[in-house]
Parts: sequence; C-alpha cells; structure tokens
Amino acid sequence: TDADGRRRFRLELRTGSTEFLPGTRTATWGANGSYLGPTLRARRGDRVAVDVTNRLPETTSIHWHGMHLPARMDGGPHQPIARDATWQPYWTVDQPAATLWYHPHLHQVTAPHVYRGVAGMFLVDDPATDDLPLPKRYGVDDVPLIVQDKKIADDGTLDESKMTFGGLTVTGLLGDKILVNGTYDPRFEVTTELVRLRLLNASNARIYHVGFADDREFALIAMDAGLLGAPERVGRLPLSPGERAEIVVRFAPGDDVVLKSFPPPLRANVAYERLAGGDDEHDLVKFVAVDPLRPSPALPAVLTSTPAPPPTTGEEFRLTMGDFTFNGRTMEMDRLDRVVGAGTVERWDVVNGQSIPHNFHVHGASFHVLDVDGGAPPAHLRGVKDTVYVAPGSTVGLAVSFLPHSDPRSPYMFHCHLLAHEDSGMMGQFVTV
Ligand code: C2O
Ligand code: CU
Ligand code: CU
Repeated sequence: TDADGRRRFRLELRTGSTEFLPGTRTATWGANGSYLGPTLRARRGDRVAVDVTNRLPETTSIHWHGMHLPARMDGGPHQPIARDATWQPYWTVDQPAATLWYHPHLHQVTAPHVYRGVAGMFLVDDPATDDLPLPKRYGVDDVPLIVQDKKIADDGTLDESKMTFGGLTVTGLLGDKILVNGTYDPRFEVTTELVRLRLLNASNARIYHVGFADDREFALIAMDAGLLGAPERVGRLPLSPGERAEIVVRFAPGDDVVLKSFPPPLRANVAYERLAGGDDEHDLVKFVAVDPLRPSPALPAVLTSTPAPPPTTGEEFRLTMGDFTFNGRTMEMDRLDRVVGAGTVERWDVVNGQSIPHNFHVHGASFHVLDVDGGAPPAHLRGVKDTVYVAPGSTVGLAVSFLPHSDPRSPYMFHCHLLAHEDSGMMGQFVTV
C-alpha cells in the first residue's frame, strides 16, 4: 500500500530466456521475470495502482482482461507503452470475486507479444464471498493453471512461423507442446482432499476440452467473471482462448491422475476441425496425491445469489463475423462501431457466418449467455462471462451489462480472442456514454 492508501503493483516487462525443454534455452518475454508475470491480487473496494514499465525492444500495452475499470485504464490499443516508458493506470476494484488476467493488447501485435510470454493472472477477492468454505490456500489447494501451447524448434527458439493465419492455418499458431504456468510436463502434489483449479486458456488459438484421464467428475464453481449460483458437476469443460473457469476436484489418497485436454467440440466441418486442432489430445498436468490427505470442508450448496441474467434495457445489436471482420469491417483505430449507455444491458447477437471457429470477447462489460442457436446454453455457459466460443454457423445471444464509467473519448474493444484473428483486424470498438 502506498502513501495514498493505494495498493500499488509494479510490472517490469522484459526479455529473458527460459529452459522449457531440458538442455535448450528459449528466448522469451515476461513481467518481472523471463516468462509470464506475477499473480496480482486485490479485494473489492481496494484502490489499485500499477506501474507498468516496458523494457521490451518495442511498444506494447497491458490490458486487464475482465477487470471493471474506466476505458482509459483498460490497456487496450489506445494505451500504448513505448520502450522504457512507464504507464500508471489506477482504478477502484468493484466487481465480484473472479479470476482475471492481464496481457498485451497493442493493435496488430497482440499475438506475438502474448506468445513470447507476457501474461499473468489477476485475482479479485470480494468480502461478500470471502467466508464461503472454498479451498483458498494459494498454491496449496487454490492453484492457478495458465495453459498455453507452444511450438519450439530444435534449437529452442519459439517457432512463430504460423503466428498469423493463412496458408494451412485457419486459427493461427497451434503448438504441440503444452506449458502450464510456463512449465512443460508439470506435476502437482496434492495434499488436500479438495483442490480448486483456476484455469486460464492463455493460448493464441488453441481451444481445450478439459477433463481427467479417468473421467472423474468435478465441480464447476466459477466462470470468467465470477462464481456460479451453485456448483455444477461436469466431466468435461471446453475452454477457448481468454476464457477462465474455476473447478474443484476431489482426490483420494494415492491418486495419480492426469488432467487432459480431449478433442474439443469445435462443431466445424471435417477439414476445419482438423486444421483448428479439433482432433488433438494433450496432457496438461499430472496430479499425484499424498497419503493421507488433509480433510477439506464440503463444498457449499449455494455460492452466490445473483447469477440470473438481468433484463435488457438498451437496444439490440447484431454482430456478424465474416471474412475476419465484424459486420464486414476490420478494426480501425479512429472508427467507432457502437455507442452504448453507461450501466445499460443490451442484447447482442454474435453470429459466426464462417466455417472457421471464432470466439467473442468484450471489454468494459460482462455478459450472460442467453441462448446458443436459440436453445438454452449448456452448463458451462450459465455463469457470468466476458469471452465465449462461437462455433461455425452458430449464433450466441448475450445480455451484455455495460460498466457505469462513461467516457465518450476512450473506446473499449470487442474482438475475436483467437489472437491471429484479432491482429488481422477482427476487432471493433465502442464507447460508453
Ligand atoms: Cu484478453 Cu481484448 O482481451
Ligand atoms: Cu479484455
Ligand atoms: Cu476468430
């Protein structure tokens, strides 16, 4: 805490090198280290300030994905941080407990900057849900899992050749090596009966389908923007880039089980399924449980009381994803695509008019998924979210709740979070007034 009573964080973005594979070093970028960045953590009501110093060889930005803050603190393409400059955003944390993250967001270079390693988690706590008997010892039974795929050449360099889409890639780079928290082939020692995993898909393009090798079920307790009303039992969880989920898993003494990604349900045609990684299977983390395990309190039956979609108060807006465009247009820094009322709730229908998988993320808001192709959303889409998968040919109906901050001059972004698509212009901007 600084002299003004603010909780102050420092991020220094820098280059470095990391030994992902034994015996080879990979040139990487990170925040306060050579790969990824520290987990930042703040409580609802905290006044937060961050000093972000850019020691990278080029201009970048740092966006607070999912954070409720004014647009000029958002860290998108309009808040570049030049080489050796320090950007100092500040805001008051005012949202429910959630697993958020930060990453670069400069127009047209988000994919390489994230891929080289600039990203980290930002956890928000809320006094209103602090007392829930959920696993909460960081690194012991409350564990962040930042999941990323990489292509690493034999000499250890990061292969960025398919960073942009084109040729035979339709989604951008898909790597064959999975890193979790920057570690290849990780193992976690379980010491408690219940473990809460905070999953973040921080990959450029890969869509995961998370589950255990022995098909055990687990409790889904939170999605992108916060806790569900009640835990949902599931055995598989699709997660597209930018999405988060919190799950609680029960282990038995001596368990030895792998958290995997199964072939994801992309709902694309056969050719695009394959090109977009729809056939791929990967091990994520191996869990090995000690014997005996420390007892954990039972999961509460009710988590929060406010999961219902709010009634829409604003207009309706239809966004069709076309040829890497929204409504036929690619991103332009000085064009606004929409003006919304501060604090309003609009129905947005996001249509994937292509055969290629996309997803949809909106800044300055969180949303409920009202329907998918006119039907009720599946269990994993019933929480409050900010990013959602949009399968080829499908339409996702959202109730988007915009933040109360109004600023006619600073836009928020909406975009596909497959980073090659975003960089190629599949992004638009709106202001809240
Ligand atoms: Cu995670 Cu606009 O981004
Ligand atoms: Cu974002
Ligand atoms: Cu896309």
